[in-house]
Amino acid sequence: MATLKQELTEAVEALPSALNPLALSLNENPFPPLPAVRSALIESIDAANRYPEYLPERLRTLIAGRVGVRDEQVVIGVGATGVILQVLHAVTSPGEKIVMTSPTFDGYPIFAHMARLESVTVALDAHGHQDLDAMADAAADARVVVVCRPHNPTGTIEPAADIERFLQRVPSDTVVLLDEAYVEFLSPAYRIDGPALVERYPNVVVLRTFSKAYGLAGMRIGYGFCASDLARRLWTMQPPFGIGITGLVAVAASYDAEDQLQQRIRMIASERRYLRMRLRSMGVYSTDGHANFVFLPPWRQPWREVFDGTGVQVRNYADGSVRITIGNRQSTRAVLAAVAPFAMR
Ligand SMILES: Cc1ncc(COP(=O)(O)O)c(C=O)c1O
Repeated sequence: MATLKQELTEAVEALPSALNPLALSLNENPFPPLPAVRSALIESIDAANRYPEYLPERLRTLIAGRVGVRDEQVVIGVGATGVILQVLHAVTSPGEKIVMTSPTFDGYPIFAHMARLESVTVALDAHGHQDLDAMADAAADARVVVVCRPHNPTGTIEPAADIERFLQRVPSDTVVLLDEAYVEFLSPAYRIDGPALVERYPNVVVLRTFSKAYGLAGMRIGYGFCASDLARRLWTMQPPFGIGITGLVAVAASYDAEDQLQQRIRMIASERRYLRMRLRSMGVYSTDGHANFVFLPPWRQPWREVFDGTGVQVRNYADGSVRITIGNRQSTRAVLAAVAPFAMR
């Protein structure tokens, strides 16, 4: 019995801390769940002896209403990750090609491998932008092509008109994953009208998640929307009882707390601007990021050496670049303190 208790204690202790200003490697939200979201989650736990809905129809209706599409156009996943896997299961066969940039969200090479696809990678330009022309060329004989907007890890966005031109060039039987995991951080002027886009392009799936701006990474809820025909195919890959019982309540409570969430998003965006400005004043260039992180291309000092041993957890890349998630002011100070000794040399 004593050991069981010990295991429980250890399990609880192994939970990541909600308030760790140095956890800047996974693009998480630095704020813990809002009180209203937390209370709703606790209430939903009371029904944990019951299965959730067989297929997440209510959640789909809720999300469809908020996004402005028909219910039948939405698919739900265990994070955007789950949606991506559903898409790959539904539309690809082993050996087919998937086009992505390099670097991109770490998940994509893994998902390609899981689906036994051949990854075709297209390099980013020096400012972290995706080369949409080269991607459209590569997509000519690929089953899937991934465009992230904002892009991970650089936070950059391609103009809406360029995306439109790209979509016109991609064959209609190639599925385009337009990954908008960070879209809520974009100012309205930069957003693309997703519902209108999927009406015009029946091969586009727009991906979104509650892991980033909504701050629910641990709940694992994501969704995609697309034209009805494609969505019907994707819905056949919806695992029975696949979304936990807390999912629907978490999303409903988050939508209900939209004003407070928007305030948090503004705080994160303003902290990002501050960090970029301070880095610039130290002679450090960062890409034109529109999400909850900054990206620093290779510098005179490999970034790994700058952050190693400081306790600041960042995502290092093989070429010497680094991605740093925006946290609170304490996080920003820790980043600047790590950089300062090298900047002065
Ligand atoms: C561009 C992009 N897409 C998808 C995801 C996956 O998010 P989720 O937590 O919803 O699976 C991430 C997570 O970092 C991401 O950066």
